[in-house]
Amino acid sequence: MNIQQNISLKSYNTFGISVYAKRFISVTSVYELQQLLKIEKDVFLISGGSNMLLTKDIEKLVVHIDIKGISVDQENNDAVYITVNAGENWHEFVLWCVSENYGGLENLSLIPGNVGTCPIQNIGAYGAEVKDTITKVETLNIETGKMVEFSNVACKFGYRNSIFKNDVKGKYIITSVSFQLTKNTHDLNSSYGAIESELASKKIKNPTLRDISEAVIAIRKSKLPDPKEIGNSGSFFKNPIITKTQFLELQKEYPNIPSYIISDTKIKVSAGWLIEQSGFKGKRFGEYGVHEKQALVLVNYGNATGKEIFLLAEKIQTTILTKFGISLEIEVNVFEK
Ligand code: EPU
Repeated sequence: MNIQQNISLKSYNTFGISVYAKRFISVTSVYELQQLLKIEKDVFLISGGSNMLLTKDIEKLVVHIDIKGISVDQENNDAVYITVNAGENWHEFVLWCVSENYGGLENLSLIPGNVGTCPIQNIGAYGAEVKDTITKVETLNIETGKMVEFSNVACKFGYRNSIFKNDVKGKYIITSVSFQLTKNTHDLNSSYGAIESELASKKIKNPTLRDISEAVIAIRKSKLPDPKEIGNSGSFFKNPIITKTQFLELQKEYPNIPSYIISDTKIKVSAGWLIEQSGFKGKRFGEYGVHEKQALVLVNYGNATGKEIFLLAEKIQTTILTKFGISLEIEVNVFEK
């Protein structure tokens, strides 16, 4: 087992924060992971590093999940069943599906990170959520070293949420994810406003999977910073869900507040809009700030510390609470506050 000492994690997290792992190991198979857990269980896991803010050096053994491999388990005229190991890059997998004409993930193009972490926060974008294609999630129980399978229902998926963020947090390591995707006949989802206008601008009336994927890539590139150029972790906060009563009060003062009905009594409002209204959009404080095109995204211009970004997040939360009476919940995992 090749445990390395004092490794910078800058290239292992999309925020590009430079903290150090005292000890670091990359594992490339489930067997290797099982052997490692026999020796050490209290480990710090890192995969694509796309949904984390690191604020200090990591004392625990950092285990980089680098288990690769994609297999087609079964297929018929309508569907294909695929199992993908945790260390595969998410976007490369989506592009492969599009090239094979397997449908269901095209709206989730260009999301940073690896396949193994997609169920944890139930990644979603442009009218699609990954939960609608996942059949099961294979995991390793850290305590027993045994494989445990979670069915789609057992994952308890919700908006940017799953059992892996709650009841069983820190207890299992996801080793692979299985998907059911469409073949031949696809249920295309192009109703999201920005996709419709992107397709219309290219005069596409009957889009293919590739057209949708390319439209999503174009929209994301126009709004979201590329982590290779500007460090970031996508949406830093969740869109808050408030009561209808509170929403109607706010709407009197802010008639343009973007909103989505969740139920008869609950309304989701746009955190990006709230942050923009509070004057933070595009604000730069030295090495860090709020992205100029999407206020939900906090950015590292190069040499920010995780602490600085966390303090900015707290400042935004306090401002939103005072101005709108709404608590913004951080979506990104912060280590350690
Ligand atoms: N808005 C503003 N100002 C901003 C940003 C947004 O006024 O700075 C307004 C927009 O005008 C629009 C509304 O807020 O009316 C929604 O904006 P957008 O469509 O950009 O989506 P979002 O709700 O801000 C969510 C996801 C994104 C995902 C997009 C597209 C969350 C926390 N974020 O953002 O996910 O790409 O929808 O589906 O749900 C991510 O999780 O990392 C992520 C990027």
